[in-house]
Amino acid sequence: MSHPHAPGATEPLLAVDRVSCVYDGFKAVDTVSFTLQPREMLGIAGTNGAGKSTLFAAIAGQQTASAGTIAFAGQLISRLEPYQRARLGLVRTFQVPREFKSLTVRENLLASAPNFEGEQLFAALMNTRARQAREQDLNAKADEILTFLNLTKVCDVPARNLSGGQKKLVELGRVLMLEPRCILLDEPFAGVNPVLVEQLSEHIVALNQKGIAFVVIEHHLQALKALTKRLIVMDRGLILAQGDSQTVLDDPRVQVAYMGGVT
Ligand SMILES: Nc1ncnc2c1ncn2[C@@H]1O[C@H](COP(=O)(O)OP(=O)(O)OP(=O)(O)O)[C@@H](O)[C@H]1O
Ligand SMILES: [Mg+2]
Repeated sequence: MSHPHAPGATEPLLAVDRVSCVYDGFKAVDTVSFTLQPREMLGIAGTNGAGKSTLFAAIAGQQTASAGTIAFAGQLISRLEPYQRARLGLVRTFQVPREFKSLTVRENLLASAPNFEGEQLFAALMNTRARQAREQDLNAKADEILTFLNLTKVCDVPARNLSGGQKKLVELGRVLMLEPRCILLDEPFAGVNPVLVEQLSEHIVALNQKGIAFVVIEHHLQALKALTKRLIVMDRGLILAQGDSQTVLDDPRVQVAYMGGVT
């Protein structure tokens, strides 16, 4: 991959610069700036309605920022469609999993495999052997991810029959099919039983060690601190505090926002 900067320069993987998002005149995200280094793991916490999910939507492209810029791997992406951002390696999961309910777990993974430009034409031009080879590749990749996420046992089960926690794993599996460099996780632990939370944390750490950068939204500050060295706390669209996790947890403004109880 071409690199616009001199070797050794620490160019952030993701650079969010003074981004705002407005819903009908209401500023849900207000002039938010932060950077994420390659292979970094960053946590975002904040009260309900603070603007965390909206910020993810702006970064991943479901929502257009009303002001500010977003750059990924040195490229301005603020105007790109979500699939174009995904192709660059930037993907997200949703707070409420968006699985295809009638498809099996395996089919859900295969359905999120990258689409080629002009898929129809491409498919028509590919000879049968090339198409079979591509299908084999995708199947092998899906198998690998299903094994990694301990989903092999339920791979032929329709997604609608899964538990909430298993759906969260499928959500992660679907974005892994895209071979991302950066994953934005929106409350991956919400509604997941404690045993699965531990497993899911281990999966995230293992993926991070393989080089994937993460931004993780989570209400539970201590759980987040266990996972990430650096934290952002948002409140009413603004960044209240950001930096080293312990410093952020000790910040009086954070204590007040969490009404005297940092949990
Ligand atoms: N589609 C929408 N249209 C109008 N307002 C919205 C929309 N989505 C979110 N909002 C509002 O924007 C604000 C930020 O919402 P957002 O979902 O980003 O918060 P959040 O920090 O993710 O909250 P939670 O922790 O509850 O998930 C809230 O006041 C919410 O009501
Ligand atoms: Mg949210």
